[in-house]
Amino acid sequence: MSNQKNVQTIEAHGGTLINREVSAEQRQVWLDSAHELPSVTLDAWSLSDLELIGIGGFSPLTGFMGEKDYLNVIENVHLDNGLVWSIPITLPVSQDKADTLDIGQKVALYGEDHVLYGILELTEKYHYDKTKEAKLVYGTTDEAHPGVKKVYDKGAVYLAGPIHLIHRPKHDAFTDFHLDPKETRALFKTLGWKTVVGFQTRNPVHRAHEYIQKCALEIVDGLLLNPLVGETKSDDIPADVRMESYQVILKHYYPEHRARLVIYPAAMRYAGPREAVLHATVRKNYGCTHFIVGRDHAGVGDYYGTYEAQEFISQFEAELGIQILKFEHAFYCETCGNMATAKTCPHDRTHHLHLSGTKVREKLRNGEPLPETFSRPEVAQVLIKGLQNSK
Ligand code: ADX
Repeated sequence: MSNQKNVQTIEAHGGTLINREVSAEQRQVWLDSAHELPSVTLDAWSLSDLELIGIGGFSPLTGFMGEKDYLNVIENVHLDNGLVWSIPITLPVSQDKADTLDIGQKVALYGEDHVLYGILELTEKYHYDKTKEAKLVYGTTDEAHPGVKKVYDKGAVYLAGPIHLIHRPKHDAFTDFHLDPKETRALFKTLGWKTVVGFQTRNPVHRAHEYIQKCALEIVDGLLLNPLVGETKSDDIPADVRMESYQVILKHYYPEHRARLVIYPAAMRYAGPREAVLHATVRKNYGCTHFIVGRDHAGVGDYYGTYEAQEFISQFEAELGIQILKFEHAFYCETCGNMATAKTCPHDRTHHLHLSGTKVREKLRNGEPLPETFSRPEVAQVLIKGLQNSK
Protein backbone atom coordinates (compact mmCIF):
# COMPACT_ATOMS: atom_id res chain seq x y z
CA MET A 1 0.00 0.00 0.00
CA SER A 2 1.40 3.43 -0.77
CA ASN A 3 0.52 6.50 1.18
CA GLN A 4 -1.85 8.62 -0.82
CA LYS A 5 -1.59 11.67 1.43
CA ASN A 6 0.45 14.36 -0.26
CA VAL A 7 2.21 15.63 2.84
CA GLN A 8 4.50 18.55 2.05
CA THR A 9 7.57 19.29 4.13
CA ILE A 10 6.40 19.27 7.74
CA GLU A 11 6.78 22.55 9.61
CA ALA A 12 9.13 22.77 12.56
CA HIS A 13 7.40 22.95 15.94
CA GLY A 14 6.20 26.54 16.30
CA GLY A 15 6.74 27.24 12.58
CA THR A 16 10.47 28.07 12.40
CA LEU A 17 13.43 25.74 12.52
CA ILE A 18 15.81 27.37 14.97
CA ASN A 19 19.52 27.70 14.26
CA ARG A 20 21.62 29.22 17.05
CA GLU A 21 24.98 28.20 15.69
CA VAL A 22 27.31 31.16 15.20
CA SER A 23 29.19 31.88 11.96
CA ALA A 24 32.94 31.15 11.75
CA GLU A 25 33.61 34.87 12.11
CA GLN A 26 31.43 35.24 15.21
CA ARG A 27 32.99 32.11 16.69
CA GLN A 28 36.42 33.70 16.52
CA VAL A 29 35.14 36.85 18.22
CA TRP A 30 33.69 34.77 21.07
CA LEU A 31 36.81 32.63 21.36
CA ASP A 32 38.93 35.79 21.67
CA SER A 33 36.72 37.37 24.32
CA ALA A 34 35.31 34.45 26.34
CA HIS A 35 38.07 34.62 28.94
CA GLU A 36 36.62 37.96 30.08
CA LEU A 37 33.21 36.41 30.77
CA PRO A 38 31.96 34.56 33.84
CA SER A 39 31.71 30.85 33.08
CA VAL A 40 29.67 27.74 33.83
CA THR A 41 30.84 24.17 33.23
CA LEU A 42 28.16 21.99 31.65
CA ASP A 43 27.77 18.31 32.44
CA ALA A 44 27.02 15.88 29.61
CA TRP A 45 23.25 16.29 30.03
CA SER A 46 23.25 20.11 29.80
CA LEU A 47 25.75 20.00 26.95
CA SER A 48 23.43 17.79 24.93
CA ASP A 49 20.55 20.18 25.67
CA LEU A 50 22.70 23.08 24.48
CA GLU A 51 23.48 21.23 21.28
CA LEU A 52 19.84 20.34 20.60
CA ILE A 53 18.72 23.93 21.15
CA GLY A 54 21.55 25.16 18.92
CA ILE A 55 20.84 22.85 15.98
CA GLY A 56 17.06 23.31 16.12
CA GLY A 57 16.14 19.89 17.48
CA PHE A 58 14.34 21.67 20.30
CA SER A 59 12.67 24.32 18.07
CA PRO A 60 11.07 26.70 18.97
CA LEU A 61 13.39 26.99 22.00
CA THR A 62 16.21 29.47 21.47
CA GLY A 63 17.70 29.01 24.92
CA PHE A 64 17.24 27.49 28.37
CA MET A 65 13.73 27.98 29.73
CA GLY A 66 12.74 30.86 31.98
CA GLU A 67 10.46 30.36 34.96
CA LYS A 68 7.17 31.07 33.15
CA ASP A 69 7.86 28.47 30.49
CA TYR A 70 9.25 26.07 33.07
CA LEU A 71 6.14 26.22 35.26
CA ASN A 72 3.77 26.04 32.31
CA VAL A 73 5.62 23.01 30.96
CA ILE A 74 5.63 21.05 34.20
CA GLU A 75 2.10 22.05 35.23
CA ASN A 76 0.28 22.29 31.89
CA VAL A 77 2.47 20.53 29.29
CA HIS A 78 2.66 23.79 27.28
CA LEU A 79 5.07 26.66 26.83
CA ASP A 80 3.94 30.07 27.96
CA ASN A 81 3.06 30.91 24.32
CA GLY A 82 0.59 28.02 24.21
CA LEU A 83 2.66 25.52 22.22
CA VAL A 84 2.66 21.97 23.51
CA TRP A 85 5.94 21.04 25.26
CA SER A 86 6.34 18.28 27.81
CA ILE A 87 9.82 18.29 29.42
CA PRO A 88 11.64 21.25 30.98
CA ILE A 89 14.86 22.22 29.19
CA THR A 90 16.72 24.02 31.93
CA LEU A 91 20.26 24.83 33.00
CA PRO A 92 20.92 23.98 36.66
CA VAL A 93 23.80 25.47 38.67
CA SER A 94 24.65 25.55 42.36
CA GLN A 95 23.50 28.43 44.55
CA ASP A 96 27.14 29.51 44.96
CA LYS A 97 27.65 29.69 41.20
CA ALA A 98 24.34 31.50 40.67
CA ASP A 99 25.37 34.13 43.25
CA THR A 100 28.40 35.05 41.13
CA LEU A 101 26.29 35.80 38.03
CA ASP A 102 24.28 38.93 37.21
CA ILE A 103 21.24 39.22 35.00
CA GLY A 104 22.19 40.81 31.67
CA GLN A 105 25.64 39.21 31.64
CA LYS A 106 26.90 36.92 28.95
CA VAL A 107 28.07 33.62 30.40
CA ALA A 108 30.62 31.35 28.72
CA LEU A 109 29.46 27.72 28.68
CA TYR A 110 32.32 25.24 28.79
CA GLY A 111 32.27 21.46 28.64
CA GLU A 112 34.06 19.28 31.16
CA ASP A 113 36.76 19.03 28.45
CA HIS A 114 37.32 22.86 28.74
CA VAL A 115 36.01 23.49 25.21
CA LEU A 116 33.89 26.62 24.83
CA TYR A 117 30.59 25.23 23.55
CA GLY A 118 28.26 28.15 23.97
CA ILE A 119 27.32 31.55 25.29
CA LEU A 120 24.28 32.20 27.45
CA GLU A 121 22.67 35.63 27.57
CA LEU A 122 21.52 35.46 31.17
CA THR A 123 17.97 36.81 31.48
CA GLU A 124 16.80 34.99 34.61
CA LYS A 125 17.88 32.83 37.51
CA TYR A 126 15.27 31.10 39.65
CA HIS A 127 14.74 28.46 42.31
CA TYR A 128 12.56 25.47 41.60
CA ASP A 129 10.83 22.78 43.56
CA LYS A 130 12.55 19.45 42.90
CA THR A 131 9.82 17.29 44.39
CA LYS A 132 7.22 19.06 42.28
CA GLU A 133 9.29 18.63 39.11
CA ALA A 134 9.84 14.95 39.87
CA LYS A 135 6.16 14.32 40.55
CA LEU A 136 4.83 16.23 37.53
CA VAL A 137 7.41 15.23 34.93
CA TYR A 138 8.32 11.70 36.04
CA GLY A 139 5.11 10.80 37.87
CA THR A 140 7.08 9.72 40.94
CA THR A 141 9.32 11.14 43.65
CA ASP A 142 11.18 7.85 44.04
CA GLU A 143 14.93 8.42 43.95
CA ALA A 144 15.43 4.98 42.45
CA HIS A 145 13.99 6.40 39.20
CA PRO A 146 17.07 7.47 37.15
CA GLY A 147 15.42 10.69 35.91
CA VAL A 148 14.24 11.67 39.37
CA LYS A 149 17.68 10.98 40.80
CA LYS A 150 19.09 13.42 38.25
CA VAL A 151 16.63 16.09 39.37
CA TYR A 152 17.59 15.59 43.02
CA ASP A 153 21.30 15.72 42.22
CA LYS A 154 21.08 18.97 40.22
CA GLY A 155 22.04 22.45 41.44
CA ALA A 156 19.39 24.51 43.23
CA VAL A 157 19.08 27.33 40.66
CA TYR A 158 18.09 27.35 37.00
CA LEU A 159 19.76 29.85 34.65
CA ALA A 160 17.76 30.99 31.67
CA GLY A 161 18.19 32.92 28.46
CA PRO A 162 18.98 32.61 24.76
CA ILE A 163 22.12 30.73 23.78
CA HIS A 164 24.63 30.81 20.96
CA LEU A 165 26.23 27.54 19.93
CA ILE A 166 29.96 28.08 19.46
CA HIS A 167 31.14 24.50 18.97
CA ARG A 168 29.19 21.30 18.64
CA PRO A 169 30.08 18.29 20.74
CA LYS A 170 32.10 16.11 18.37
CA HIS A 171 30.40 12.67 18.46
CA ASP A 172 33.60 11.45 16.83
CA ALA A 173 32.59 7.83 16.65
CA PHE A 174 29.37 8.71 14.83
CA THR A 175 30.46 11.39 12.34
CA ASP A 176 28.84 9.63 9.38
CA PHE A 177 25.50 9.60 11.17
CA HIS A 178 25.53 13.09 12.64
CA LEU A 179 22.98 15.22 10.81
CA ASP A 180 21.17 18.33 11.98
CA PRO A 181 17.42 18.71 11.54
CA LYS A 182 17.98 20.95 8.53
CA GLU A 183 20.21 18.26 7.03
CA THR A 184 17.76 15.41 7.63
CA ARG A 185 15.07 17.55 6.02
CA ALA A 186 17.29 18.06 2.97
CA LEU A 187 18.11 14.34 2.94
CA PHE A 188 14.44 13.34 2.90
CA LYS A 189 13.89 15.66 -0.05
CA THR A 190 16.82 14.18 -1.95
CA LEU A 191 15.51 10.70 -1.27
CA GLY A 192 12.05 11.73 -2.43
CA TRP A 193 10.46 10.78 0.89
CA LYS A 194 7.25 12.69 1.50
CA THR A 195 6.32 10.71 4.57
CA VAL A 196 8.94 9.64 7.09
CA VAL A 197 8.52 7.69 10.29
CA GLY A 198 10.87 8.53 13.15
CA PHE A 199 11.97 5.76 15.49
CA GLN A 200 13.40 6.52 18.91
CA THR A 201 15.39 3.88 20.74
CA ARG A 202 18.00 3.50 23.44
CA ASN A 203 18.36 -0.22 22.76
CA PRO A 204 19.64 -2.41 19.95
CA VAL A 205 16.99 -3.09 17.31
CA HIS A 206 15.36 -6.41 18.18
CA ARG A 207 12.78 -8.31 16.16
CA ALA A 208 9.88 -6.51 17.86
CA HIS A 209 11.36 -3.12 16.93
CA GLU A 210 12.01 -4.33 13.41
CA TYR A 211 8.44 -5.59 13.14
CA ILE A 212 6.83 -2.30 14.15
CA GLN A 213 9.23 -0.28 12.00
CA LYS A 214 8.40 -2.44 9.00
CA CYS A 215 4.67 -2.24 9.68
CA ALA A 216 5.16 1.54 9.54
CA LEU A 217 7.26 1.24 6.37
CA GLU A 218 4.27 -0.40 4.68
CA ILE A 219 2.49 2.97 4.88
CA VAL A 220 5.20 5.64 4.75
CA ASP A 221 8.07 6.36 2.36
CA GLY A 222 11.03 6.09 4.70
CA LEU A 223 12.33 5.28 8.17
CA LEU A 224 14.57 7.57 10.21
CA LEU A 225 16.23 5.25 12.69
CA ASN A 226 17.15 7.88 15.25
CA PRO A 227 18.77 6.25 18.29
CA LEU A 228 19.46 8.34 21.34
CA VAL A 229 23.23 8.46 21.93
CA GLY A 230 23.46 10.94 24.81
CA GLU A 231 23.65 10.00 28.47
CA THR A 232 21.83 6.78 29.42
CA LYS A 233 21.83 4.76 32.62
CA SER A 234 24.89 2.62 33.17
CA ASP A 235 23.24 -0.74 32.47
CA ASP A 236 21.90 0.29 29.05
CA ILE A 237 23.97 -0.96 26.10
CA PRO A 238 26.61 1.67 25.21
CA ALA A 239 25.86 3.85 22.18
CA ASP A 240 28.97 2.85 20.20
CA VAL A 241 28.06 -0.83 20.41
CA ARG A 242 24.46 -0.07 19.49
CA MET A 243 25.50 2.08 16.53
CA GLU A 244 27.44 -0.83 15.09
CA SER A 245 24.45 -3.11 15.58
CA TYR A 246 22.12 -0.65 13.79
CA GLN A 247 24.40 -0.55 10.76
CA VAL A 248 24.46 -4.33 10.64
CA ILE A 249 20.70 -4.76 10.82
CA LEU A 250 20.07 -2.06 8.21
CA LYS A 251 22.59 -3.65 5.87
CA HIS A 252 21.14 -7.14 6.10
CA TYR A 253 17.43 -6.63 6.60
CA TYR A 254 16.23 -3.24 5.27
CA PRO A 255 15.94 -1.98 1.69
CA GLU A 256 18.80 0.48 1.21
CA HIS A 257 16.65 3.30 -0.18
CA ARG A 258 14.02 3.16 2.58
CA ALA A 259 15.91 3.65 5.86
CA ARG A 260 18.53 6.06 7.20
CA LEU A 261 20.46 6.02 10.49
CA VAL A 262 21.02 9.37 12.21
CA ILE A 263 21.99 9.95 15.85
CA TYR A 264 19.76 11.77 18.32
CA PRO A 265 22.35 13.37 20.62
CA ALA A 266 20.06 13.81 23.65
CA ALA A 267 20.23 12.57 27.22
CA MET A 268 17.66 9.93 28.17
CA ARG A 269 15.19 11.09 30.83
CA TYR A 270 13.23 7.83 31.27
CA ALA A 271 10.16 10.04 31.71
CA GLY A 272 7.82 7.64 29.86
CA PRO A 273 4.67 9.51 28.72
CA ARG A 274 6.18 13.01 28.98
CA GLU A 275 9.30 11.92 27.13
CA ALA A 276 7.26 10.32 24.35
CA VAL A 277 5.81 13.78 23.64
CA LEU A 278 9.29 15.33 23.63
CA HIS A 279 10.58 12.57 21.37
CA ALA A 280 7.76 13.16 18.89
CA THR A 281 8.25 16.94 18.97
CA VAL A 282 11.96 16.63 18.23
CA ARG A 283 11.40 14.15 15.38
CA LYS A 284 8.94 16.61 13.85
CA ASN A 285 11.80 19.13 13.90
CA TYR A 286 14.01 16.58 12.15
CA GLY A 287 11.34 16.49 9.42
CA CYS A 288 9.47 13.30 10.27
CA THR A 289 5.76 13.20 9.49
CA HIS A 290 5.11 10.11 11.64
CA PHE A 291 6.50 8.84 14.94
CA ILE A 292 6.29 5.42 16.56
CA VAL A 293 5.17 4.99 20.15
CA GLY A 294 5.08 1.33 21.15
CA ARG A 295 4.90 -0.40 24.51
CA ASP A 296 6.18 1.45 27.57
CA HIS A 297 7.90 4.13 25.47
CA ALA A 298 10.88 5.69 27.32
CA GLY A 299 9.88 3.73 30.39
CA VAL A 300 12.02 2.26 33.13
CA GLY A 301 11.20 -0.34 35.78
CA ASP A 302 7.46 -0.44 36.32
CA TYR A 303 6.86 3.28 36.85
CA TYR A 304 4.55 3.57 33.83
CA GLY A 305 1.76 1.43 32.44
CA THR A 306 2.41 -0.40 29.17
CA TYR A 307 0.27 2.02 27.13
CA GLU A 308 0.46 5.10 29.35
CA ALA A 309 2.73 6.94 26.90
CA GLN A 310 0.26 6.25 24.07
CA GLU A 311 -2.67 7.49 26.13
CA PHE A 312 -0.79 10.59 27.20
CA ILE A 313 0.43 11.55 23.75
CA SER A 314 -3.06 11.03 22.31
CA GLN A 315 -4.24 14.14 24.18
CA PHE A 316 -1.74 16.30 22.28
CA GLU A 317 -1.63 14.63 18.88
CA ALA A 318 -3.57 17.32 17.03
CA GLU A 319 -1.47 20.12 18.52
CA LEU A 320 1.78 18.26 17.90
CA GLY A 321 1.13 18.05 14.18
CA ILE A 322 3.04 14.78 13.71
CA GLN A 323 1.13 11.56 13.24
CA ILE A 324 1.67 9.09 16.06
CA LEU A 325 1.75 5.42 15.08
CA LYS A 326 0.86 3.40 18.17
CA PHE A 327 1.83 -0.22 18.35
CA GLU A 328 0.81 -2.86 20.84
CA HIS A 329 3.33 -5.07 22.54
CA ALA A 330 4.93 -7.15 19.76
CA PHE A 331 6.40 -10.64 20.21
CA TYR A 332 7.29 -13.77 18.30
CA CYS A 333 4.51 -16.39 18.37
CA GLU A 334 5.82 -19.95 18.09
CA THR A 335 2.48 -21.21 16.82
CA CYS A 336 1.85 -18.48 14.24
CA GLY A 337 5.53 -18.74 13.30
CA ASN A 338 5.85 -14.97 13.00
CA MET A 339 5.99 -11.66 14.80
CA ALA A 340 2.61 -10.47 16.01
CA THR A 341 0.67 -8.54 18.61
CA ALA A 342 -2.55 -9.34 20.45
CA LYS A 343 -4.29 -7.66 17.51
CA THR A 344 -3.08 -10.32 15.07
CA CYS A 345 -2.37 -13.46 17.12
CA PRO A 346 -5.09 -15.60 18.74
CA HIS A 347 -2.75 -17.64 20.98
CA ASP A 348 -2.12 -17.08 24.66
CA ARG A 349 1.12 -16.02 26.34
CA THR A 350 2.49 -19.56 26.58
CA HIS A 351 2.94 -19.53 22.78
CA HIS A 352 4.92 -16.29 22.81
CA LEU A 353 8.59 -15.61 23.33
CA HIS A 354 9.21 -13.23 26.21
CA LEU A 355 12.71 -12.10 27.21
CA SER A 356 13.28 -9.33 29.71
CA GLY A 357 15.91 -6.67 29.02
CA THR A 358 17.83 -7.85 32.06
CA LYS A 359 17.84 -11.45 30.82
CA VAL A 360 19.02 -10.33 27.39
CA ARG A 361 21.90 -8.27 28.78
CA GLU A 362 22.89 -11.14 31.04
CA LYS A 363 23.02 -13.56 28.10
CA LEU A 364 24.99 -11.13 25.95
CA ARG A 365 27.53 -10.42 28.68
CA ASN A 366 28.00 -14.19 29.07
CA GLY A 367 28.54 -14.48 25.33
CA GLU A 368 25.41 -16.63 24.88
CA PRO A 369 23.54 -16.34 21.58
CA LEU A 370 20.02 -14.90 21.59
CA PRO A 371 17.12 -16.77 19.98
CA GLU A 372 16.78 -15.76 16.32
CA THR A 373 13.15 -15.09 17.04
CA PHE A 374 14.26 -12.36 19.43
CA SER A 375 17.29 -10.84 17.70
CA ARG A 376 18.84 -11.08 14.26
CA PRO A 377 22.00 -13.21 14.67
CA GLU A 378 24.21 -10.53 13.07
CA VAL A 379 22.97 -8.07 15.68
CA ALA A 380 23.52 -10.47 18.58
CA GLN A 381 27.07 -11.11 17.36
CA VAL A 382 27.91 -7.39 17.39
CA LEU A 383 26.41 -7.01 20.86
CA ILE A 384 28.26 -9.98 22.32
CA LYS A 385 31.56 -8.74 20.93
CA GLY A 386 30.89 -5.16 22.00
CA LEU A 387 29.85 -6.01 25.53
CA GLN A 388 32.73 -8.38 26.06
CA ASN A 389 35.17 -5.69 24.91
CA SER A 390 33.60 -3.13 27.24
CA LYS A 391 33.73 -5.41 30.30
S1 ADX B 1 12.98 3.91 24.49
O1 ADX B 1 13.84 4.96 24.03
O2 ADX B 1 11.57 4.13 24.15
O3 ADX B 1 13.17 3.64 25.92
P1 ADX B 1 13.14 1.22 23.46
O4 ADX B 1 14.26 0.69 22.68
O5 ADX B 1 12.78 0.59 24.73
O6 ADX B 1 13.56 2.72 23.64
O7 ADX B 1 11.88 1.31 22.53
C1 ADX B 1 11.90 1.92 21.28
C2 ADX B 1 10.48 2.02 20.75
O8 ADX B 1 9.98 0.71 20.49
C3 ADX B 1 9.48 2.66 21.69
O9 ADX B 1 8.48 3.34 20.96
C4 ADX B 1 8.87 1.47 22.41
O10 ADX B 1 7.59 1.78 22.88
C5 ADX B 1 8.83 0.45 21.27
N1 ADX B 1 8.91 -0.96 21.71
C6 ADX B 1 9.95 -1.57 22.35
N2 ADX B 1 9.71 -2.88 22.52
C7 ADX B 1 8.49 -3.12 21.98
C8 ADX B 1 7.67 -4.29 21.81
N3 ADX B 1 8.06 -5.50 22.23
N4 ADX B 1 6.48 -4.14 21.21
C9 ADX B 1 6.05 -2.93 20.76
N5 ADX B 1 6.77 -1.80 20.88
C10 ADX B 1 7.99 -1.89 21.46
